[in-house]
Amino acid sequence: MALRTMISGRAVRSGAAMGARSISSWWRNVEPAPKDPILGVTEAFLADPSPNKVNVGVGAYRDDDGKPVVLECVREAERRIAGNLNMEYLPMGGSMNMVEETLKLAYGENSELIKDKRIAAIQALSGTGACRIFADFQRRFRPESQIYIPVPTWSNHHNIWRDAQVPQRTFHYYHPESKGLDFASMMDDIKNAPNGSFFLLHACAHNPTGVDPSEEQWREISYQFKAKGHFAFFDMAYQGFASGDPEKDAKSIRIFLEDGHLIGCSQSYAKNMGLYGQRVGCLSVVCEDEKQAVAVKSQLQQLARPMYSNPPVHGALIVSIILSDPDLKKLWLKEVKGMADRIIGMRTALRENLESLGSSLSWEHITNQIGMFCYSGMTPEQVDRLTNEFHIYMTRNGRISMAGVTTKNVAYLANAIHDVTKSP
Ligand code: LMR
Repeated sequence: MALRTMISGRAVRSGAAMGARSISSWWRNVEPAPKDPILGVTEAFLADPSPNKVNVGVGAYRDDDGKPVVLECVREAERRIAGNLNMEYLPMGGSMNMVEETLKLAYGENSELIKDKRIAAIQALSGTGACRIFADFQRRFRPESQIYIPVPTWSNHHNIWRDAQVPQRTFHYYHPESKGLDFASMMDDIKNAPNGSFFLLHACAHNPTGVDPSEEQWREISYQFKAKGHFAFFDMAYQGFASGDPEKDAKSIRIFLEDGHLIGCSQSYAKNMGLYGQRVGCLSVVCEDEKQAVAVKSQLQQLARPMYSNPPVHGALIVSIILSDPDLKKLWLKEVKGMADRIIGMRTALRENLESLGSSLSWEHITNQIGMFCYSGMTPEQVDRLTNEFHIYMTRNGRISMAGVTTKNVAYLANAIHDVTKSP
C-alpha cells in the first residue's frame, strides 16, 4: 500500500509496460528437457500403432498376456479398506505401522536394532523418494561428502544425487566381457576412495545389469567398508525378485548389519507388491542409539515437510494390512515367488530360442543374471534397429526387462535379437 502511494502515475504506467514485456518472456530461455531414458521408452511404445509391438523397457511386471498385474493380496487389502478409510493426513513420517513392518523386511523380524529403536525411518514416496530424501539429508548434514555410484546404475540415481547437489563419483561394477561382476576393480575403487566415503549399493537384483555379488563377495565388501569407514546406502527396489524370497534377498544388508555398519536403506513396494503408482516405500537410517535415531528421524521429516508435507495414505494402508495379517503375508510371499519364477522361466525360454536359431554368440548371461533385468550386451545401434525394424522397445543401454517377455512374444523377440546381433 505504502509503495503504491509513493509511485507517480507515470512510474506506474512504465512499471506496467515493463511487466507486460517480462511476462511474455518469463520462460523464453527454457529448452525442452531430454527424454527420460526409461520412461521415454514407454512413451514411444504407447505412440506406436504396430500390433506386433513389445515393451521390454520399463521395469514393471506383466503377466503372460503382457498385462499389468494387481496381486490378490492387494485386492483383498483393498476390499478391507473399502468404505473404512478416512482421508485424514498421515503424520509427516507416514504410517508408523507400515514403516515398522517394512523395517522387519530389511532388518529382520527379530532385529535388535528395531527393538532398541535405533533406526530412524519414515514412509517415503517409493524408492525414488527415499533415495531423494536421503540425498538431501546427506547434503545437509555431510555437505563435504560425495556419493560413489556403480557403473552402470539405474539412470535416475544420477538425477537424484545431482538435484540434491551431492557431487558424484563412480566405482567399477560390471564387466562387459564376462557380462558379470568386475569384483577386483570394484574392490580397488572401494580401497582407493577416501576414508569415510558414501557408497550407493543395490541390495539385490542390480538394475540394470542383473548381476549381484555372491554372499562371499558381500562379506569382503562389508569387511573393506569397515576398514575404510565407508557409509553404505542400500537401494532395495527389487526385494524378492532376485531369489523369489524377500528374506534371502536381504542377505547383503544383513551381512553389513552383522559387521556393525550404520547403514541407510531405501525400500520400495512398487515391484514386489505391484504398487507402482501408489508410491509407497520407506527410508531408514541406522543410528548409534535411540536418541540419535529420534533426532535423525525429525530431520528426515523436516526435509519431507516443505516438499510434500506428508505421504499418501492409501498404498501405506494396503501394505500395513498385508504385512500385519499372517495369512495375507503368506499369500504375498507366494505371489512374489510366482512373479520371480515366471521371469526365470522367460530367461530360459529366451536363451533357448536364441540358441536354437543358431546364434554364434553366447547367451549364457541371460540365465546367469538375476532379477527383473537382463543386460544383454546389445549396442545402442542394435537396440535402435530392434525398435525401428521390429517395434521392440527397450532402453538403449541394452537392458531387457524380462518382466515384459511372455510365452507369446519370446520367439518374436529372440528372432529380432538374432537378426540385429548376427554378423553382417
Ligand atoms: C526401471 O528401472 O525401469 C524402473 O525402476 C522404473 C523407473 O522409474 O525407472
